[in-house]
Amino acid sequence: MKKRVFSGIRPTGRIHLGNYLGAVQNYVAMQDEFECIYCVVDIHALTTLEDTHLLKENVREMITDLLAAGLDPEKCALFVQSHVPEVTELFTLLGMVTPLSWLLRVPTFKEKVKQQPQNVNYGLVGYPVLMTADIVLYKAEVVPVGEDQLPHLELAREIVRRFNDHFGETFPEPKARMTTFPMVVGLDGREKMSKSLNNHIELAATPEETMKKVMGAVTDPARMRRADPGHPEVCNIYKLQQNFNPQVIDEIAEGCRSASRGCVECKKQLGASINEFLAPIRVRRIEIAKDQAYIDRVMKEGAEKARALARVTITEVKQRMGL
Ligand code: ADP
Ligand code: NA
Repeated sequence: MKKRVFSGIRPTGRIHLGNYLGAVQNYVAMQDEFECIYCVVDIHALTTLEDTHLLKENVREMITDLLAAGLDPEKCALFVQSHVPEVTELFTLLGMVTPLSWLLRVPTFKEKVKQQPQNVNYGLVGYPVLMTADIVLYKAEVVPVGEDQLPHLELAREIVRRFNDHFGETFPEPKARMTTFPMVVGLDGREKMSKSLNNHIELAATPEETMKKVMGAVTDPARMRRADPGHPEVCNIYKLQQNFNPQVIDEIAEGCRSASRGCVECKKQLGASINEFLAPIRVRRIEIAKDQAYIDRVMKEGAEKARALARVTITEVKQRMGL
């Protein structure tokens, strides 16, 4: 039997190259080996109340991109968190076995308290409990995570252990499956491509938009003139070339170091390769977006699949807890 995987995807709107290479392509690859449950976690997005008027649209954009990227509703359950209300019931019940002290020492929580002490709500401190409910509602055994999310998963495992100790073996302890793709760098020279830094390329961007963004990117700051020798190791365009043109990466490095090749030429090559890479995804995306009824159907059928599993778990949990 295939192991069950759960991943929660935050509805940040359109997927960018960082999300795709770092996470989504892995979701696509896992569809065959595992039973995959992929959930766009809209309730989690409410821990900050900004832009809630965009939430529905962002969820749709995310689902559209995920389908275009290759998630197949025949192979996985793809749905929206709030469409399976059982998750909030389990959240409440798991809250009863979660010591507050565990939640107060979560690093990301402590960071938020420092950053925005005026906006620390009950939902924010309970975030890891809701995340645990997301995973165990489907009795998932495997969770793909980045390094930054390991503390949350460890907490989920502790909550599971505590529940199982109290009420009998109910949930499997979810195991982390570490994401191995190196960080995709930003077009502004920063370490991380990120939507919030606006140094990203969306999967859905047009080829022209993509080329324009790449041509405007920051390269080796020490290379002021075309004739100056460049330093590929400090250049984000070079790092992106490693992602998109690995087969000619030595020539690219050599051309840069010897100044036989300029940054403009290098960027044109990168832009063209990114466009080539994204072309099939974009074609699919345009097709999918034309059929909004299909997207509704995917979300509805995904939620039905998920709810069938969720109801079984909730019934068992309530019975074990004496309800
Ligand atoms: P988070 O900020 O919580 O990591 P994001 O919405 O930024 O979530 O990204 C969603 C997923 O995409 C995460 O798994 C994250 O690790 C991955 N991701 C985001 N940006 C990058 C990037 N620049 N390089 C590699 N992976 C990325
Ligand atoms: Na981000």
